[in-house]
Formats: sequence, C-alpha cells, structure tokens
Amino acid sequence: MKAHIHPSILSADFVNFERDFATISAADAIHVDVMDGHFVPNLTFGLPMVRRMREIAQLPLDVHLMIENVDSLAVQYAEAGAESVTFHLEASNDPVKLLRELRAAGAKAAVAIKPGTSASELLPLLAEADMLLVMTVEPGFGGQKFMADMIPKVELLRLEIESQGLPVRLQIDGGVDTTNISGAAKAGADTFVAGSCVFNAEDRNARIEELRTLAQSAQQ
Ligand code: DX5
Ligand code: ZN
Repeated sequence: MKAHIHPSILSADFVNFERDFATISAADAIHVDVMDGHFVPNLTFGLPMVRRMREIAQLPLDVHLMIENVDSLAVQYAEAGAESVTFHLEASNDPVKLLRELRAAGAKAAVAIKPGTSASELLPLLAEADMLLVMTVEPGFGGQKFMADMIPKVELLRLEIESQGLPVRLQIDGGVDTTNISGAAKAGADTFVAGSCVFNAEDRNARIEELRTLAQSAQQ
C-alpha cells in the first residue's frame, strides 16, 4: 500500500504560500486547513484563498474544513477545484447527503472525527466516503502532541474497510512525526497529515520522503 504524505500548510508562511508550496514538491497533496473561529477557536482563510491556491499549486489540494454550516458551504470548495474535501461529522446535519454532493461536484468526499467522537459513528458512512480522517489532536492548532490513544480507532476502521473490501483511504492528522508514523501505519492509516514536522525541517522534501519510507516499511 502506498503511504500518502500531505503536509499541512497551517505551519507554512501565510504571506508566502507560493514560495512554501515549492518546498514540498515531494508531497502527495497539500493539506489545507480551513478554520472559521467557531467550530475551532482559530481562524485561517476561506474560499477565495483556496481558489487562488488551486491556481498556483502543482499538487492536489486536500481541504480540511473545520467550520460550522458545512452542509451549505462545503460543496463550494469542491467547485473551487479541491481534489478532496473533508468535513467534520460533528458539524453536519446530513453527512450522507453531503458526501454525495461532494462526489457529484467532482471531489473526493471525506469525513473527519474529533478525538471525542467514536469511530463507530463513521461506520454507516463507509460506502459513501472516499476517505476517513481520524484526528490525532484536538483540531484548531498545529504543533500539538500526537494522541496515541486514537490508534484503536484507526485499527477498527481499517478492519472494517478491509472486511467490506472498500477503496476508502484512512487519514490521520495532528502531531504526526518520525517517532509515531510507523505505529499509525501499522494500525492501518495510509494517509498522513504532517504540519510542523515537515515545515520545521531544514529540507522539507527530505522529511516528506523520510515519513513516507517509515510509513511504507511499517505497513503490513
Ligand atoms: C489541526 C490541523 C492539522 C495541523 C497539523 O487542527 O487540522 O492539520 O495543522 O499540524 P501538526 O502536524 O503540527 O500537528
Ligand atoms: Zn488538518
């Protein structure tokens, strides 16, 4: 199984995205954290910025929406050209409908859970989703400590994905670094968001390759 590395630009220089994108060309996609100051206590940017990123970025955009009112707002990110759009289960009133709308708009459709949400809540959505995201920190900020107690969620979801034979990707986000990526890959994650670990590295592409190699050697 290929391990996908998605650097989170929450740790990038917000007035030099174009320059910073050029430093992570070895990545599989760029993870774009959209925060509204309501769903999470932090604010980043919205649709106009994502549209402009789509114009300048060479890599796919993996948009992670940490916003309220996703049922009415998320599809616009798919229409803006994001390759995948992830919304939070906790923020949606009708996740099945929204996953279908995102796919219909041409994006990969994904759904995320916060640390306090049980993985079993995702099970009814498996057939509708292209990717599941298990948060391994409380969403809102980069540079937090990886919550190893989220690993059982990854194991449970991987087991279910395999037993149903579904092509669903399993992503983790938050605190991922060279010390914990192997364990998460062994548990069944195949897509890894890494913000500070990549952006604080002197050679970001070398760090991306290192993370990918560690994950791929740990996968069963
Ligand atoms: C947290 C964000 C993450 C974050 C990851 O709310 O969703 O994408 O930027 O950053 P690190 O890897 O530094 O925890
Ligand atoms: Zn994120």
